[in-house]
Amino acid sequence: MKGVVLAGGRGTRLRPMTKIMNKHVLPVYDEPMIFYPVRTLLKNGISEILVISAPEYIGGYIQLLEETFENAEFSYKVQDKPAGIAHAIQLAERFVDGTFAVVLGDNIVMDDIREDITGFDDSDEDCMIFLKEVSDPSRYGVAEVEDDRVVDLKEKPDSPETNTAVIGLYLYTSDVFERIPELSKSDRGELEVTDLNRTYIEDDALGYSELDGQWFDVGTPDGLLKASNFVAESR
Ligand code: DAU
Repeated sequence: MKGVVLAGGRGTRLRPMTKIMNKHVLPVYDEPMIFYPVRTLLKNGISEILVISAPEYIGGYIQLLEETFENAEFSYKVQDKPAGIAHAIQLAERFVDGTFAVVLGDNIVMDDIREDITGFDDSDEDCMIFLKEVSDPSRYGVAEVEDDRVVDLKEKPDSPETNTAVIGLYLYTSDVFERIPELSKSDRGELEVTDLNRTYIEDDALGYSELDGQWFDVGTPDGLLKASNFVAESR
């Protein structure tokens, strides 16, 4: 399985820092944020990694990652505008040659998902999402599960039906590249990963796994502070 790290986007919730720099170099305690999604892939056995970022930042990531992770084989791709997570995933089409994992550059996932990866490779499912109970679900994609199947997904609902957040880690087969061009832009003008993943519910091809380890969305000042404290305390 190959891996994709998405490190583009607008970073609006981390302004003013992200007015002049890409959010994925902001420090989580003593290391740049992007080291964490890269490590999530590496520690789960995925070493061929495509990094996608904006044109003005991609050069810096080449320099930073190549000299830090000698055990990874990186490729790079520019996303010329922050047109959504699904838009960024589509840019991986030429890199992918089978199943692949996508991790959002602002997600820190501490769980071991090697069994999920093996299970996905052996299954008939075409997409796998990872779920976690949270106290503030309206900040995330939210899943509704009934009888061990995901029956609905909503992006940042005002009144969530459940406390089950969809975290920024997804497994796909290459059929995803036929689904993304069929999506319509959301009200905020993006191709949404939640709309993409909902298409798999309709086809009964969506699997899920519940994570019990630490997870942080570090795309907000609060998330960044919590993750930094967690890292500092676990040293
Ligand atoms: O953190 C988990 C959440 O991430 C999920 O629960 C949501 O369903 C999902 O939509 C996403 O929500 P966010 O509002 O946190 O997404 P954000 O726009 O902050 O982008 C997340 C990452 O994806 C970020 O590290 C940058 C990258 N990205 C984003 C966009 C819109 C790109 O590389 N390109 C893009 O065009």
